[in-house]
Amino acid sequence: MDLLIKNGTIVTATEMYKADIAVDKEKIVNIGCSFNESDFDEVVDASGKLVLPGAIDGHTHLALEFGGTISTDDYYAGTRSAACGGTTTVFDFVNQAEGEKMVDAIKRREAIACNDVAVDYSFHVAVYDISTEELMDSLEESVEYGVPSFKVFMVYDNGVDDGTFFKVLSRAKEIGALVGVHAENKTVNEYLIDKYLKEGKTDAWWHYMAKNERVEGEADTRAVNLAIMADAPLYIAHLADEQGVKAVTEARLKGYPVFAETCPQYLNFTSEVYKRERGRDFVCSPPMKDQASQDAIWEAITNGNITTVATDHCPFLKAEKDWGIVKKDGTPGNFTTIPNGCAGIENMYPYILSEANKGRISFSKAVELCATNPSKLFGLDDQKGAIRVGLDADIVIYDPEKEFTITNDKMHGDTDHTIWEGIELKGYPEATYCRGNLVFKDGEFLGKRGAGKRVKCHKLHFDGPSL
Ligand code: URP
Ligand code: ZN
Ligand code: ZN
Repeated sequence: MDLLIKNGTIVTATEMYKADIAVDKEKIVNIGCSFNESDFDEVVDASGKLVLPGAIDGHTHLALEFGGTISTDDYYAGTRSAACGGTTTVFDFVNQAEGEKMVDAIKRREAIACNDVAVDYSFHVAVYDISTEELMDSLEESVEYGVPSFKVFMVYDNGVDDGTFFKVLSRAKEIGALVGVHAENKTVNEYLIDKYLKEGKTDAWWHYMAKNERVEGEADTRAVNLAIMADAPLYIAHLADEQGVKAVTEARLKGYPVFAETCPQYLNFTSEVYKRERGRDFVCSPPMKDQASQDAIWEAITNGNITTVATDHCPFLKAEKDWGIVKKDGTPGNFTTIPNGCAGIENMYPYILSEANKGRISFSKAVELCATNPSKLFGLDDQKGAIRVGLDADIVIYDPEKEFTITNDKMHGDTDHTIWEGIELKGYPEATYCRGNLVFKDGEFLGKRGAGKRVKCHKLHFDGPSL
């Protein structure tokens, strides 16, 4: 057999126990004790370490054309960085072009990704155009192709109206798909942008003010109501505000299949960051919110009303963030000319595990949020997301004693700064295996460009809020 990981403490979403893991041909083939070491090509001693499933980042934007540029990390840089943070699968967004069938959109991006990815990957399709029956039917083709999750945007220039959102929800329910949403009130956001710019309010703080707690909260609440009307499951992406948490919690209490994702940036930063000298580096959508929202999100994590944590990784260079001061064309910039998004793909699992290590949540909760629940929600639980016999050997060996201060020079992406600079973590991944292949060890990327594969997700059906 290929690999024995012995003497570690295995962490699942429900328990922690000491056992050894046997890996062969990329799968976990046995979990137990007293294996014969001579049966294995390699034996790794994980004494004093935790052994976790690789994280599944359900929300990334690699090589995304956005905000007048392209996000800094391509599929290689982004997945290299992911591997070094213990993430072994990423779900990237495919943006459907006008008139483009969903599978054609997926294949267009797959062609870009397949030779570059260093860990496994799948997609969600951001749906913009369902104006013909053919386009509507192509939603089902996407599900058959192994991509049963869609996203609609309620904001941005190409954000969809409520009717379109409702139609996608209704069809998704019929075909075994899940609809995610970027929820912010588009027209109020536009009105506030116009007002602040007319008042000469141009810095990053006004990005937050134009997308404040209520701007997101109203849209979260409306999204939940539309899902209930359509009798369809809903996934709220990057939930960042208290009102949204309340809407999700109420729906779940009534038994509706409403799920929410939040991101580490909302758990660690508040809107105060926009007052910093380089507040523009923190500009992302939705923006970080006030302390009450952060508290509500942490509470919802603890009580189970937030189902997943993902990164929304979408980095831009400092010089591009500076377009908020002077635009590309040399004219004065403002908060609307800052590309939206931040790096985080390498920080998610280490940050959440560090919070667990500091006692805020359990290690099992961290695994549930970052690996097991995303695998269930997006249709991968028969392949990934847990330490279980028969699943892919996506495994992280985690050293709970290691002290780690995040600095950009220790990260493995192509970005030239990180909003996480100087954040101190307790514990850090020591090694990452993707399907049994070592892709990260002791601070070094050891994977191969193009070694990741696209995983096919199964159809999704949710009767209620539990997975
Ligand atoms: O600021 C962000 N999140 N940029 C990426 C696109 C999105 O809205 O998810
Ligand atoms: Zn979004
Ligand atoms: Zn996003």
